[in-house]
Amino acid sequence: MARRKKIYEGKAKILYEGPEPGTIVQYFKDDATAFNAEKKDVIEGKGVLNNRLSEFFMSGLNQIGVPTHFIKRLNMREQLVRSCEIIPLEIIVRNYAAGSMSKRLGIDEGTQLPRPIVEYCYKNDELGDPLVTEEHIAAFGWASQQDMDDIVSLALRVNDFLSGIMMAVGIRLVDFKIEIGRFYEGDFVRLIVADEISPDSCRLWDIETGRKLDKDVFRRDLGSLTDAYTEVATRLGVMPKNAGQFTKPTLIN
Ligand code: TMP
Repeated sequence: MARRKKIYEGKAKILYEGPEPGTIVQYFKDDATAFNAEKKDVIEGKGVLNNRLSEFFMSGLNQIGVPTHFIKRLNMREQLVRSCEIIPLEIIVRNYAAGSMSKRLGIDEGTQLPRPIVEYCYKNDELGDPLVTEEHIAAFGWASQQDMDDIVSLALRVNDFLSGIMMAVGIRLVDFKIEIGRFYEGDFVRLIVADEISPDSCRLWDIETGRKLDKDVFRRDLGSLTDAYTEVATRLGVMPKNAGQFTKPTLIN
């Protein structure tokens, strides 16, 4: 069988050329990294869970009219997505203080913010994805003022959508990160949500107990990451309770 052409390999995913022009196959690896890959591990089953969860969130967004790169899931670890030009920004939306914001501003983790706060980081691993302002983004030409208006409105719609579906299953959406791409359609350019939406890129806390159900479990050594992600997936009805069967090969005789 002819090998597919690899386009890009990141820390958690590999992109291959898709079957049609303008499409890409996005493969979810089991690799987990934190602190700009200073901490690394391979967590069996994480890729399968994130593939399913990202499918669930992205297809939901498509259905409510928030355009995303997602076309369809192909198998346990791969999905077909639209090829787009990624804007080199991580768009972070925060509803409660946590992580780097708590550290930077000295606000206790879990403090509710007066309104959702949108932040931008420049996507550059060598620099450790530094926080930037709209001034930097405009001055260095990473995105136009019109793009920024569209990005904020997309990010806030994603926030409302994700907060609502999480609240319905007893989970607080503390914060999340998305990436946005430019999708060329004839003479038009549209901004679409790209990359992934999964517990790798969100902070999710159980509303009753405060238990962390996201990548902080790995970053802070709080237990089993797949147990946490499986909990999110089962509450959302994305995976059956015995999700292990999807992560380990079963021998059939
Ligand atoms: P932070 O508090 O570390 O800045 O993270 C904010 C949110 O962004 C959190 O939900 C985790 C997510 N995130 C990523 O998806 N990728 C990253 O590289 C970092 C640093 C954070």
